[in-house]
Amino acid sequence: MRFEKKDILDIESLEPWEISMILDTAQGMKEISERPVKKVPTLRGKTIVLFFQEPSTRTKLSFDAAAKRLSADTHSISAGTSSIVKGETLIDTAKNLEAMKPDVIVLRHPSSGAPHLIAKRVKASVINAGDGIHAHPSQALLDMMSVREKKGKIAGLKISIIGDISHSRVARSDITGFSKMGATVSICAPGTMIPKGIEKLGCTVSPNMEACIEGSDVVMMLRIQKERQGSILFPTEREYSTLFGLNRDRLKLAQKDVLVMHPGPMNRGVEISSDVADSDCSIILEQVTNGVALRMALFYLVAGGSRHVDSH
Ligand code: CP
Repeated sequence: MRFEKKDILDIESLEPWEISMILDTAQGMKEISERPVKKVPTLRGKTIVLFFQEPSTRTKLSFDAAAKRLSADTHSISAGTSSIVKGETLIDTAKNLEAMKPDVIVLRHPSSGAPHLIAKRVKASVINAGDGIHAHPSQALLDMMSVREKKGKIAGLKISIIGDISHSRVARSDITGFSKMGATVSICAPGTMIPKGIEKLGCTVSPNMEACIEGSDVVMMLRIQKERQGSILFPTEREYSTLFGLNRDRLKLAQKDVLVMHPGPMNRGVEISSDVADSDCSIILEQVTNGVALRMALFYLVAGGSRHVDSH
């Protein structure tokens, strides 16, 4: 089967076979980053615009590295340094970018649905790099890649996701993706951080952290997104950490070969203790490494026109 999607906007719109194809392609891309010369000519002549209207370290740099490793040209604009500060709308900005003939626009935006809005209006492929609290598909795909690489499968695993679910686009995309690929997903958070109806995405809500972690193959921790919270959703960070922080004692409830994950940025000592974050169970930095390969795969599949990895 051929990958025919123009845009990568969310996990909901990807079929399981498309997710598998993306993960297979990313796995094939991974060795390019191990070469002395980390570059292949696959996307030579293609233009990729990185349009980030929110701060980012991992996502922006890895999309940039991914494009350059495939020999595409990249251009970067942000809210603070573009004419958005002069009042230009998102759609007008997108149409002006389109007029310069990019092949792919990667968009991170504080409003849920912004990438979907521009995808309908531009010929370029649009990749959602995180929109509001809605979706972060490339993060979920690199998370699935990382789990599949370590465990050899996703189906049948118990995945626990713990933290500020309400404000997390990563949680929504991961719940959808892992459950679509046959895992059992359990979530846990203070009641104020669990959105109504979240179970519809394909998860169960655990009554407490111990019940959530019990028997888990993967424990994924999320930070508290203070920048998206309109009001204080828990009394103190110390109290949050006592009830919902991951430490060595709690991790003993999981499977012996548990993987600890975090999309970053971490708040050490709040949702995760440093000794767990830096332990042998942790694959947090391997997630970042896989992020480059995964984003190379996305560029290749939407802009390369073939699903075979060019290894020239
Ligand atoms: N995981 C993630 O989206 O990190 P950044 O905000 O640094 O891109």
